Amino acid sequence: MASTKPATPYSTAGTVSAPLNLDSLAPKGEHQAVQLNGSKRKNYRPVPKVTLTSLTPNNSGTLRRINSVVIPIVYSDKFYKDVLDPSLDDINKLLYYGDIPVGAICCRFENLGSTSAAKQPTLVILTLAILAPYRSQSLGTALLTTALRSALHPTTPPPPIPSTDKTNTRASLVPAPPRKPVRRAMAHVQVGNDDAQRFYERLGFKKTETVKDYYSKMQPRDAVLMVCDDIAAALGETPNGA
Ligand SMILES: CC(C)(COP(=O)(O)OP(=O)(O)OC[C@H]1O[C@@H](n2cnc3c(N)ncnc32)[C@H](O)[C@@H]1OP(=O)(O)O)[C@@H](O)C(=O)NCCC(=O)NCCS
Repeated sequence: MASTKPATPYSTAGTVSAPLNLDSLAPKGEHQAVQLNGSKRKNYRPVPKVTLTSLTPNNSGTLRRINSVVIPIVYSDKFYKDVLDPSLDDINKLLYYGDIPVGAICCRFENLGSTSAAKQPTLVILTLAILAPYRSQSLGTALLTTALRSALHPTTPPPPIPSTDKTNTRASLVPAPPRKPVRRAMAHVQVGNDDAQRFYERLGFKKTETVKDYYSKMQPRDAVLMVCDDIAAALGETPNGA
């Protein structure tokens, strides 16, 4: 009988990104020339330190909290387990504004091994959430573009950690190979959520079909399927196939 080998666990501890440059995403900036009374410093412009952190079992509760506050859907324990998959380490992130967790993105891949034109490998955005007081500062754009960039330019997964249930030799801790580049992305957005639809359109997604009864527990139940067929072009890189 063939025994199924458990996936090698990977350490994501300490994988905090360098501070993000939000100005490169939206040059307008949310803090414009604040002039304090009597102050000669006309261009005081506080810059928040914004970083991304990998999802781990330890910050899973924080992710649940952000999603539950922002998105009116209760996701299952399986959802929160699946998004910790080490092969998604460079995609699924929590976003910190200073030391406050204010946003998160969760995705999965579909058709990753497919070579058929009909079933292209696709990054599926499952949840994207920014706490309301922190919106319109390009934080959502930062999370989404980071995920798109990582899908297109996969990195090597972080080094594995030894499992606790057996003795590991150095040779058994072989890192998984990087994924192959994924050039297509999609997201479902609830009909009527015009802000989110505009947000995705601005980042190169196009409305395709309306999926009837996509949501079972909220009204309206239909979702608009937003698709980005060319992640490279959406990121301002050389378009796919060029
Ligand atoms: C959709 C969502 C993630 C966007 O997050 P966000 O951080 O506000 O996104 P951004 O700041 O990058 O962009 C949002 C808007 O702010 C504007 N903006 C971005 N940076 C800005 C800045 N520095 N100053 C002023 N405006 C700015 C953008 O032009 C954009 O406007 P648009 O919607 O008219 O295109 C957020 O609104 C959210 O969590 N919504 C609820 C959950 C949801 O609907 N998720 C999507 C489906 S899964």
